[in-house]
Amino acid sequence: MDTPDFPHFPADFVWGVATASYQIEGAVNEGGRGPSSWDAFVVEPGRISNGDTGEVACDHFHRYHEDIALMKELGVDAYRFSFSWSRVQPSGQGAVNAVGLGFYDKLVDGLLEAGIAPSPTLFHWDTPLELEQSGGWLNRDTAERFADYAALLGEHFADRIPRWITINEPSALTLMGYGAGIHAPGLALGFEALPAAHHLLLGHGLGVQALRASGAGNIGIANNHSVIWPVSDAPDDEQAAGIYDNLTNWLFADPILTGAYPEALAPFLLPLPDADLATIASPIDWYGINSYNPTLVGAPLNEGAALVDGHALDASLPFSLREIEGYPRTDFDWPVVPEALTELLLNIKSRYGDQLPPIVITENGAAYNTGPNDAGHVPDTDRVTYTDSHLRALAAAMAAGVDVRGYFHWSLMDNFEWAAGYSQRFGLVHIDYASQKRTPKESFYWYQRLIQSAKSR
Ligand code: NOJ
Repeated sequence: MDTPDFPHFPADFVWGVATASYQIEGAVNEGGRGPSSWDAFVVEPGRISNGDTGEVACDHFHRYHEDIALMKELGVDAYRFSFSWSRVQPSGQGAVNAVGLGFYDKLVDGLLEAGIAPSPTLFHWDTPLELEQSGGWLNRDTAERFADYAALLGEHFADRIPRWITINEPSALTLMGYGAGIHAPGLALGFEALPAAHHLLLGHGLGVQALRASGAGNIGIANNHSVIWPVSDAPDDEQAAGIYDNLTNWLFADPILTGAYPEALAPFLLPLPDADLATIASPIDWYGINSYNPTLVGAPLNEGAALVDGHALDASLPFSLREIEGYPRTDFDWPVVPEALTELLLNIKSRYGDQLPPIVITENGAAYNTGPNDAGHVPDTDRVTYTDSHLRALAAAMAAGVDVRGYFHWSLMDNFEWAAGYSQRFGLVHIDYASQKRTPKESFYWYQRLIQSAKSR
């Protein structure tokens, strides 16, 4: 970005940062918040690295003022956060918790005062525990409860919130939460997890309708996407990669953007009501993409186990995940392949053509665990390099005709990285969890300069 060859982004391009409730708020037992699936999951022995929990996290519930001030200094246009459903509706249905809603009133008003567009996600994985105990997203009723919750948030905030995201990464929640048991609720159901996918998508569609009925507009979803590369051109590897691509990418995008599930998945899906598909395809104003890296897939390995983030899965799965060689890696061991972001966006554009609404990158970033040096600075040059290269890759896709309207960096600050606990740091701001001291990293100042120069061109 400090070089003259940094690509030009449109003047109205939205520059943002992202977080999520359970990952930053803490205060899990305060202000009438009810428990969520994650509160129950993190205390199960062996689930989370180091036994970490989100009980305190970044203490954002008490420090949101300071965090808004940091964002103002950063100069972002927009902040993607999430509402904690069980803070707003402690049991996931019925009575609203005024204190919980009041917290988001203060957050939203503080952001507006700072000139930052509140861009909330309604649901970022922290299902109210009572709903989870009734089957969570395996239960169709959760989609209906989500619609009620969306309606109440829409009615309360429509005039103050300029951009809405229904659900975060239904693909990751289905696969990691219900399929592989790595995330809450910790169920390893394999293909039996697929009803959760349908109900999350249905919840999204019902949520879009409820938001619109309340007068809210500019609605999207944050779907995770990764380019899938077959490990070889052998037919069994290509077939395995195709199944994985359908299961993780197109199962979640096709119904929203085309109103149908991928044909190739028919053997795995029960017949579904047409009315559900029409609901899922309720028009959205933009399509949000979370993307970090490509995925290499091959036929099942002889030794059996397929791997998801190092966790062994049922040996009967029709694919296996392989190591991508020859690229740098983040501290989370994720490969750094910026050109895969260009490839992904071009694939999506060619798959959906005119049916594709404008795109917003709702997440992109990297875990590097660099901490403060003796001078108190956090020289996270790797994060700068990652982000610089991914923004160039994004600009390349835009130059090739993909309509991208904004970029939200994951994350504003280090936070609770799910099964990895606090061991992986994605922030532009360093958090010292013992003191809760916030220290902007080198990447923070780099992003600040980038935003300033993008606006002054
Ligand atoms: C996906 C999720 O939406 C977010 O919660 C997570 O922290 C990041 N990506 C990094 O893994």
